[in-house]
Amino acid sequence: MPVGDLLALEPGAEEAMRRHWLGYTESPGSPSLRKEISRVYNSISPDDVIAFSGAEEGIYLFIHAILKAGDHLIVHWPCYQSLFEVARSIGVEVSFWEAREENNWALDFNELRHLLKPETRAIIVNTPHNPTGYLFSRSDFERLNRFSQENGLLLFCDEVYRELEYDSADRLPAACDVNWISVSLGVMSKSYGLAGLRIGWIATHQAEVLRRIAALKDYTTICNSAPSEFLAELALRHREQLAARNLQIIQGNLVRLDDFFARHADRFEWVRPKAGPIAFPRLLLGDIDTFCDKLVQESGVLLLPGSMYDHPGNHFRVGFARRNMPDALDRLEKFLKS
Ligand SMILES: Cc1ncc(COP(=O)(O)O)c(C=O)c1O
Repeated sequence: MPVGDLLALEPGAEEAMRRHWLGYTESPGSPSLRKEISRVYNSISPDDVIAFSGAEEGIYLFIHAILKAGDHLIVHWPCYQSLFEVARSIGVEVSFWEAREENNWALDFNELRHLLKPETRAIIVNTPHNPTGYLFSRSDFERLNRFSQENGLLLFCDEVYRELEYDSADRLPAACDVNWISVSLGVMSKSYGLAGLRIGWIATHQAEVLRRIAALKDYTTICNSAPSEFLAELALRHREQLAARNLQIIQGNLVRLDDFFARHADRFEWVRPKAGPIAFPRLLLGDIDTFCDKLVQESGVLLLPGSMYDHPGNHFRVGFARRNMPDALDRLEKFLKS
């Protein structure tokens, strides 16, 4: 979305943007931005929020603030790389809680119990999930929150794709609203489609976690970009409209993908996602790296091979939040026929 479209959402926004002050902003994020972010949640006040340059800074600072070499961390896997790599880089031992295609990408709580160690400090999950589009069931999500609390573990829940559930009845409460020990990660990039703003945040009732993260932020970005804070606050006042617009594109493309995979069931295994703009189908015949290389060279369509997630299963990640999806699918179809 161009800046002009965002400014057009409110009368007077353009003039207010021109007057917006370009000094340093407040380190945890401006009070008015944090107030708007707190409205995403049910039990969170502006003081329970710290805003960053994107979700990525939130992940990086959370891990550095909370974990140290010798600690143990359990991470929902496959996943967005930094959710485990940042911890590994500082000597934290990481165990993967593996999502499996044969369970429609659901996680197994018996496996979680076996991963637990005396040194375990935290669990990281991502729901709705990159790359499978899996969404925890409400009962599993509550069970996970109970498990964390009973075992004294921090639960870090990457919720950057929240509000993109295909059926709004499936929307989970934010982790920070379920459990005082949980930490929720949000961002402007995904559900609201405004990645260029580079504004993300952490929301939690744990003041000590926020205090430690805030101390470290003095060594990364100090504060956020003032124009971005202004635009993020404006966008959040219209977040339902923005998420609905993106969901409409995603759902249109999902129907196309359902049709495509039904017609090519001999070539691909398709586990339909439940939320978000990403799925993780499997190529049944041939090697996925070779397939993706050839596809991008011959038809300009980029699919991300599962090897990029260190995942061995011949899967690929497909993103479907763009309006040019019909063209991409046409090209893929022609490639398959060639
Ligand atoms: C699951 C997940 N978490 C966090 C991020 C980081 O978001 P951002 O690029 O806005 O910092 C991404 C980006 O792809 C993601 O997929």
